[in-house]
Amino acid sequence: MTGFSISWLDLREKADFAARNKQLLIQALAWLRAGYDALAVNIIVVDLGAGTGSTLRAMSALNFSLGVNHILWRLVDQDGDLLDTALLRHGKTCQIEDYQADLTVIEELPLAGARLVTASALFDLVSGDFVDKLVVRIAHHRTGIYAALNYDGTTTWTPTHPLDKAVLAAFNLDQRCDKGFGLALGPDATGYLKKILENSGYTVLVGSSAWLLTAEDHALVSELISGIARAVAVGYGLDADALKDWEIFRLKHAQLGTCTIGHQDLLALPA
Ligand SMILES: C[S@@+](CC[C@H](N)C(=O)[O-])C[C@H]1O[C@@H](n2cnc3c(N)ncnc32)[C@H](O)[C@@H]1O
Repeated sequence: MTGFSISWLDLREKADFAARNKQLLIQALAWLRAGYDALAVNIIVVDLGAGTGSTLRAMSALNFSLGVNHILWRLVDQDGDLLDTALLRHGKTCQIEDYQADLTVIEELPLAGARLVTASALFDLVSGDFVDKLVVRIAHHRTGIYAALNYDGTTTWTPTHPLDKAVLAAFNLDQRCDKGFGLALGPDATGYLKKILENSGYTVLVGSSAWLLTAEDHALVSELISGIARAVAVGYGLDADALKDWEIFRLKHAQLGTCTIGHQDLLALPA
């Protein structure tokens, strides 16, 4: 297990789907369609940190022009339970190869023949070194990359609370801690990816994919609040009582207020 439970991934999926930048998603699908039209062979998509298949679901939902049968999905994740769930949910309707593997072993990632590498809610966890090495591999094969839902460091709440700014600053520091790949890019993920990909000859498009959460999303918002409070409790100089007050205030308003969390999606295609 890696700490990403099926229940947490399910809880965030509705907000993720609504937030995904549809223009970039449609352009990613057009890139797959063009590959199929040119070669008339199945198109390979490699989803890194696939979880239970959120990107497969999002792309399938908008895939009006390329039959699902023409896409072979390689789902890569280190968590076998998540991959089993993806297979259970989609194994009968989609072509799926599952790879239980550690993404940090970049040279062994099953990228051969891929038209597109995808990921969602992954690149803010990885390091600059991971991006550098991955981009060398994909650029060599002129593979496109679609990286969705990268946290951008912005969070706004209504109603506001006096500790919001301090909690956000601490949370953004925590986002840069090692998440298994070396020091994480956190809120710098999209900017860093864009720079490295442009330097490698890619045309890069970036679009907003913010979570706009309201009372309807109170279950997700409540989990989020508790997760943030846990993440910043130690090591960031926040007074424990003040943080508790913040958490209680936020939980009390989860069904009344709003929460906007900034994310960015990126699509990079070889020029
Ligand atoms: C935030 S979740 C996103 C899952 C999925 N893409 C989604 O949007 O629902 C991050 C995923 O990356 C996987 N992951 C994290 N570190 C990994 C590593 N070093 N190797 C392989 N998978 C990893 C986790 O198991 C988890 O499924």
